Amino acid sequence: EKGGYDYFMLKEIAEQPKAVADTLLGRVDGSGTLSLDEVRIPASVLREVDKVVIVACGTAFHAGLIAKYAIEHWTRVPCEVELASEFRYRDPILDQQTLVVAISQSGETMDTLMALRHAREQGAKVLAICNTNGSTIPRESDAVLYTHAGPEVAVASTKAFLTQLVACYLVALYLGQVRGTKYGDEIRDVIRDLSQIAGAVERVLETMEPVRELARSLAHKNTVLFLGRHVGHPVALEGALKLKELAYMHAEGFAAGELKHGPIALIEEDLPVVVVVPSPRGRSVLHDKIVSNIQEIRARGARTIVIAEEGDEAVVPYADHLVRIPVTPTLLQPLVATVPLQVFACELATARGNEVDQPRNLAKSVTVE
Ligand code: M6R
Repeated sequence: EKGGYDYFMLKEIAEQPKAVADTLLGRVDGSGTLSLDEVRIPASVLREVDKVVIVACGTAFHAGLIAKYAIEHWTRVPCEVELASEFRYRDPILDQQTLVVAISQSGETMDTLMALRHAREQGAKVLAICNTNGSTIPRESDAVLYTHAGPEVAVASTKAFLTQLVACYLVALYLGQVRGTKYGDEIRDVIRDLSQIAGAVERVLETMEPVRELARSLAHKNTVLFLGRHVGHPVALEGALKLKELAYMHAEGFAAGELKHGPIALIEEDLPVVVVVPSPRGRSVLHDKIVSNIQEIRARGARTIVIAEEGDEAVVPYADHLVRIPVTPTLLQPLVATVPLQVFACELATARGNEVDQPRNLAKSVTVE
């Protein structure tokens, strides 16, 4: 059942290219067309949507944070992302023109379910992104877009996360297509890029041995920090969450621009800091800013672990460890940048003698509030 792997988590990490491809299957094609007829919210309703609100917990919440960048960019509709556990307690502003997107692997997370019930009571339309057929969250939603990750057994979410990202991109692109924005050409290009993305995930997996080695060498550390900008910020948060739940280490993710507003005080000699670097193409200002962040923390003694695109030479002088990821469009980078962080956390957990598939105190599906 573990298919020759020691842990379900390893198997599920390895299954990611297939999970991504399966989630795209029949929905995108190489010519840049998107078919999401299964989302049974009529185009006329989607054209009236004036706000998107995403609710989710844990790793699914991180997928939502990334979705916000994609939705606002491609659709020009404002998008909020909220922890499901906080949502209904702050009296959120919702009406018939709000599209609520509830993201959940299990479809049974009580916090997310309560949030979507609250949203529907206020008249909002709810679209579920879910990995479990017929589970409660899709049953209680107006529409559902299933992720096709297959069963995820390890408590730590990996392949479900990547497929949640794919589903979020599809929703963003679809909304953009239905509503028509100035990004029509870009949308077509990205749909084409998505049909190649499973291969990029595969290439990352083939180069993970140095990451495993690095993780083993850090098994005695107490703290690891993660930095990112733009969509790399939620990737940093996800890297930190994986490390907490699997390695039981103190791990925090920050937006790199926030460093000087506080977190830089944490930097000390030999502290491992993982930095997710945005592409030097496209939003190159962001890239240059993060390179100076890496310089700053390294000057203060940090041991820099840099995740950067192939061909990005600017980071080389400041990287104690360099992890290469394939070139992707800016917004899609989380699909490849997250994978080394999953491998890193899994290997650290193993090196520290932890139970990889069943971390202490955690349950796969949290069905209490
Ligand atoms: O089943 P869900 O996607 O609703 O679960 C949400 C979180 O409980 C889940 O992502 C949790 O954070 C994972 N253990 C993270 O790896």
